[in-house]
Amino acid sequence: MEILEVNYVNFRNLQDGNTKVFPKLNLFFGKNGQGKTSFLEALYFGATGKSFRTAKSSETMKYGAKRTGVFLIYRDNIGEKTLTVKFNDENKKEYSYNGKKAPYDEFYGKLNIVTYIPEDIILITGSPSVRRSFFDGEIAQTSGEYFQKLKNFNKILKIRNKYLKEKKYREPEFLIYQEEFIKYGARVIEKRLEYVKKISIILNLNYRKLFDDKKELSLQYQCHLGNIKKMSLEEIESCLRRRIEEKFQQEIRYGFSLSGPQKDDFLFFLNGYEAKSTASQGEKKSIIFSLKLSEIDMVIREKKESPVLIIDDISSYFDSNRKESILNYLEKRNIQVFISSTGDLGIDSKNFHVEKGEIIYDGIGQCRNDDR
Ligand SMILES: Nc1ncnc2c1ncn2[C@@H]1O[C@H](COP(=O)(O)OP(=O)(O)OP(=O)(O)O)[C@@H](O)[C@H]1O
Ligand SMILES: [Mg+2]
Repeated sequence: MEILEVNYVNFRNLQDGNTKVFPKLNLFFGKNGQGKTSFLEALYFGATGKSFRTAKSSETMKYGAKRTGVFLIYRDNIGEKTLTVKFNDENKKEYSYNGKKAPYDEFYGKLNIVTYIPEDIILITGSPSVRRSFFDGEIAQTSGEYFQKLKNFNKILKIRNKYLKEKKYREPEFLIYQEEFIKYGARVIEKRLEYVKKISIILNLNYRKLFDDKKELSLQYQCHLGNIKKMSLEEIESCLRRRIEEKFQQEIRYGFSLSGPQKDDFLFFLNGYEAKSTASQGEKKSIIFSLKLSEIDMVIREKKESPVLIIDDISSYFDSNRKESILNYLEKRNIQVFISSTGDLGIDSKNFHVEKGEIIYDGIGQCRNDDR
């Protein structure tokens, strides 16, 4: 997949405009506070309807503005397509695909995008809910089926918790919800497990290739039901049912659900030790970078084409050796990449200068005669 053009209105400090971008490496450079991250965020917002910096879309709206919007033209295996996200100060968001309004489930996952930003370290250091929502988003990016199952599960979880809280668990429909809870809960667990199995192998290969070939990196799905690695869907369902029965009295006391995929976690292990408590800062950054590269491989596997990659502020993570090996790796692969940096990286990239919210194409070096 390849973004061709992005148009933004009232987005952060960006001056309203239209930027044509290029295949392979696009570098956005400029001083601090000029709008580099804002531009990458606008790309991400146009592709996913969300920001990678904040859960509140209202924060992306230019100070004092009443609405904001991003329009993307991109190309996939089939042809040229467009995506639009509009958002206003009444918190209303609207998505369009190829010029037609679309519900979020149809919009999400059309243009696959992978990001690497300084805050991503939270995927190791943060709470289980951060990891769950990250991996759920990743799986849903290439699986509409998972998106639907997860949506159904979350809906039923809310209803079930409401019934428990209001002590309405004796009402006949509670049992119907419970069956749905088990059905969707088990399917969410099954799919996450399958994803972790696949990505863990790629993750280890990427980590060893790029950073340290003497260490073994693995990702494990930690399920509250215990070791379910070899279980079939039916077995996971019955295990979840048993657990609910065991915990039911406690659930009544607490007033919310104590079993289900909302209790699970994803853990990274480096040489057998949990990375959260043992890996160095540099290793944590490298683990996350390897994870992001593995996501690219997962998207290629599922969709048979490459996602777009965003790397914000590359100089802030790695020493020059690591940076060089990452840039060499990216140059060799046929992926469209958007990188921001406070300086030129000396690589074969199309360069854009960012100043006071303006994005100016600055075809330095290799790209001088290649302007579109
Ligand atoms: N909603 C908003 N409306 C207008 N300006 C904003 C908004 N949110 C942030 N800004 C400002 O936009 C400017 C650009 O921020 P941005 O994070 O894009 O800079 P940057 O070029 O990535 O800088 P750095 O190199 O420090 O990371 C900052 O001065 C910031 O205060
Ligand atoms: Mg920045």
